[in-house]
Amino acid sequence: MKTEVAVIEGTDNDRKLIERAGSILKQGGLVAFPTETVYGLGGDALNRESSRKIYEAKGRPSDNPLIVHIADMEMLGAIADDVPEAAKTLASKYWPGPLTMILKKSAKVPYETTGGLETVAVRMPAHPAALSLIRAAGGYVAAPSANTSGKPSPTMARFVKEDMDGRIDMILDGGMVGIGLESTIVDLTENIPMILRPGYITKEMLEDTLKMQVSLDRSILQGNSIQAPRAPGMKYRHYAPKGALTIIAGEEKKVAALINERSEEMRKRGEKVGVIGTEQTTALYRADSVKSAGNRNDEETVARELYRILREFDEEEVTVIYSEAFEETGFGQAIMNRLLKAAGHHIEYIE
Ligand code: TXA
Ligand code: MG
Repeated sequence: MKTEVAVIEGTDNDRKLIERAGSILKQGGLVAFPTETVYGLGGDALNRESSRKIYEAKGRPSDNPLIVHIADMEMLGAIADDVPEAAKTLASKYWPGPLTMILKKSAKVPYETTGGLETVAVRMPAHPAALSLIRAAGGYVAAPSANTSGKPSPTMARFVKEDMDGRIDMILDGGMVGIGLESTIVDLTENIPMILRPGYITKEMLEDTLKMQVSLDRSILQGNSIQAPRAPGMKYRHYAPKGALTIIAGEEKKVAALINERSEEMRKRGEKVGVIGTEQTTALYRADSVKSAGNRNDEETVARELYRILREFDEEEVTVIYSEAFEETGFGQAIMNRLLKAAGHHIEYIE
């Protein structure tokens, strides 16, 4: 299969392009597209054949459910039953935006899309091209992140192409995404809403809006918990770079000194060493490849760069990676959640 890459330019031509992409989806094909979080790999959510194709293109286990993307509130009732008040409140506040809600699925949604579950994940993305595409495709687009299973989610079309070239019909290139980490997932099927995956929309924001307590899936907090996570996808080793990643947490200068010491040792052994620092610290490091994840005091910059850096280390064939740690408050919780997964939970704390 030849994969067409089409650039969204913000001109009149885009409309034709998106119409064409929409008809590919309607005919059961696959199209990758930008959202505000990461690139998605889209197929018709109501077509079981399309969902099968998505799993195949990603090399993803088919018990790992897909998120159904909608563009208009009216579409929600057709795919979700007994939508609770809390879901409506969250939708009016955060949609379109980086929030996915788990709801009871309607009969219309095939089990192939929900990985056999009785629930369905729904999100209305905030990217204008994504919204137009969903409408052009008939209203319901199933889309996991557009990476090969186990790789960091793509934040640029070039990374989608790396993983999906020859496996899907089309890639819509909308440039670099805005947020860089996947949406927050909140389960609204029980009495107490539960966050299954942290993201840009934080626990505090959800609690403020709902005026009630929101819980957090325990497996998010405890790295190597024996408890199975409630979002099936969270159990798989994810976001993994090829190099062995270790996080070093502690005071800035001590962290840099320890990373430099380790880096020297590893380079003597013939390893190629990469370091993830920040604007504030990159000058302190000595390694084969030192990258800045942005501004230490602005977590949004770090979230946006993290996956790009992990993928670039792969391209550079870095074999050992050290990273600084980040504050686990607010959006930082999502950053550390992904970084810890990428590190297989290898973290060291310096006194
Ligand atoms: O930001 C995002 O959410 C991106 C963009 C493309 O929208 N999508 C994304 O999809 O991250 P994916 O498939 O890579 O991650 C979806 C996660 C998986 O961990 C999956 O197990 C979980 O959502 N999930 C989907 N449906 C679920 C359900 N019914 N119950 C529990 N977890 C569910
Ligand atoms: Mg994913």
